[in-house]
Amino acid sequence: MTAYLKLDHIDKSFARGGQVSEVLSDIRLTIDKGEFVSIIGHSGCGKSTLLNLIAGLTKVSAGAVLLQDKEVDSPGPERAVVFQNHSLLPWLTVYENISLAVSKVFGRSKSKAERHEWIMRNLDLVQMAHARYKRPAEISGGMKQRVGIARALAMEPKILLLDEPFGALDALTRAHLQDAVMDIHSRLGSTTIMITHDVDEAVLLSDRIVMMTNGPAATIGEVLAVPLTRPRRRVELASDRTFLRCREAVLKFLYERHRFVEAAE
Ligand SMILES: Nc1ncnc2c1ncn2[C@@H]1O[C@H](COP(=O)(O)OP(=O)(O)O)[C@@H](O)[C@H]1O
Ligand SMILES: [Mg+2]
Repeated sequence: MTAYLKLDHIDKSFARGGQVSEVLSDIRLTIDKGEFVSIIGHSGCGKSTLLNLIAGLTKVSAGAVLLQDKEVDSPGPERAVVFQNHSLLPWLTVYENISLAVSKVFGRSKSKAERHEWIMRNLDLVQMAHARYKRPAEISGGMKQRVGIARALAMEPKILLLDEPFGALDALTRAHLQDAVMDIHSRLGSTTIMITHDVDEAVLLSDRIVMMTNGPAATIGEVLAVPLTRPRRRVELASDRTFLRCREAVLKFLYERHRFVEAAE
C-alpha cells in the first residue's frame, strides 16, 4: 500500500540577499489516512516552513510532498490550514467567513440551502453557531480560533494542518479546544498534522509525535508513537504510565539531546 501523505526527501532553503540559508534537510515521513501527527521542535527550527510546504504555500527546494501519489506544489482546498493567529476577514461576520470558504469549495456541488445547512453544521461542531452574526473583533481569541477550525473543517479537507492553533490562548481555553479537536478528529477521522511546542498537548492529541532537531538544516530526529487508546481524557492521563513515559521521551529529546541554542544572527 502506498502512503497517504509522503514527505519524500525534502530539502528547503531560502535565498536572501545572495545568501542561502538551509532550513530543512532530508525530511522523510509517511502519514496514514486518519492519523493525528504532531510536529514538535524548538522555535525557529522550521516547523511552520514544513507545514507551509505541505499546504503548498511554499515550494520545496528538493524532494517532494506527495498526497495520494500526487505531487503537491500549490495550495488547494483539500489541505486546510489553521494558523496560530486566526486569519478571519475582519469585515465579515463569523457566518460570512465560513460561507466564503464553503462557496469556494462547494459553490457548484451544493445548493444555497445545502451550503447554509453545512455552514451551520460546522459552526455547531465548534459550538459557535450562537455567534454567527458577530464580527471577529467582537469575539474572544478562543472563539476566533474555533471559527478558524470550523472554516477549515467546512472545506472538508483531506488533510487538516494546524500551526500552533492554541498557542496564543489561555490554558483553560486551550484545554477546551484541544478536547474539541480530539472529538472532531474521532468523529470525522480527518488526517491531521499539528505543530506545537507544548509537550503535553502533543502527547494528549497525537498518534505519533515527530521531533525535529534544531536548525539550520533541521531534520526529523525521532518519531515517537503514542499508544494510548481513544477517547483520551486529560485528567485520567495525568497519572497514566504510558502518558508519562511518552512525555518524558519528548522532554528528553527537547531539553537534553537537542537543547535550544539561541542562533547567532
Ligand atoms: N520566507 C522566508 N524567507 C526567508 N527565511 C525564512 C522564511 N520563512 C522562514 N524562514 C526562516 O526559516 C527558519 C525556520 O522558520 P519557521 O519555519 O518559521 O520556524 P518555526 O515555525 O519552527 O518556529 C527561520 O530561521 C526563519 O527565519
Ligand atoms: Mg512556527
